[in-house]
Amino acid sequence: MKSMLIGGLILVVALMAGTYFVVGDSFKLGEDYINDLTMLAGFAILSITVFVALKYVNQIKNDTASGELVEDNWDGIGEYKNPVPTGWGLMFIGTIVWLLWYWTIGYPTNGFSQIGQYNEEVNNYQTKFEDTFKNIDQDGLKSMGQSVFLVQCAPCHGVDAEGISGKAQDLTVPMYQAYGVAGLSASIGMGKKGEIGTMPAFKDRLTEKQIEAVSTYILSLGEQNGK
Ligand code: HEC
Repeated sequence: MKSMLIGGLILVVALMAGTYFVVGDSFKLGEDYINDLTMLAGFAILSITVFVALKYVNQIKNDTASGELVEDNWDGIGEYKNPVPTGWGLMFIGTIVWLLWYWTIGYPTNGFSQIGQYNEEVNNYQTKFEDTFKNIDQDGLKSMGQSVFLVQCAPCHGVDAEGISGKAQDLTVPMYQAYGVAGLSASIGMGKKGEIGTMPAFKDRLTEKQIEAVSTYILSLGEQNGK
């Protein structure tokens, strides 16, 4: 019994350690009480599972049974008369009924699926998006560029591209007109390590078309500032 207790404790500790390392970086104890509660709940579930299992293992090892034997026996091995408990039987039948309901009425495999609906809608939007931008004109390119800019670049260069002090510079200055779309696209693709900070390379994060669009957008902003 004692060795089982120690074994159980070691198992719980090992499983907790496993859980902790699997969740990895996303998780730091003491930083967020929800995380701590989750860990605590994990500990509770593991302990209960391990020790309930151990209790039954122990019972299998040590318990002796008594009761009335059925008449037949097989080479001396008898069977106790253990009628199926009514509640257990009802639950068993209930799960079968529930299964049939689940398969046929509840969630039939060919029925409505939220994931299916999502995929269908995404595909529709994708086609629509591709159609819109297939023969994209200058204005289209600018508005596409603006969307890209607001998501990818604004955190450092500001929503109006006029720079954020200490993060990244004004992109509406005349200097960039000299780069042209191609030059600007190349710069954005490569990224840059500079004095204020480092800009990540965007060539693997955005498509060529998106980089071209964002360059077009930036140049359009700077246009009135002269060449
Ligand atoms: C993490 C912050 C950050 C993000 C995000 C960012 N940049 Fe930058 N960017 C910088 C910094 C810092 C520099 C200046 C580096 C230096 O000191 O020369 C810079 C420089 C530039 C330059 C000048 C490059 C050159 O060769 O002179 C351009 C153009 C530019 N960014 C455009 C963009 C565009 C377009 C995006 C979005 C796709 C973007 N940046 C996203 C920080 C950022």
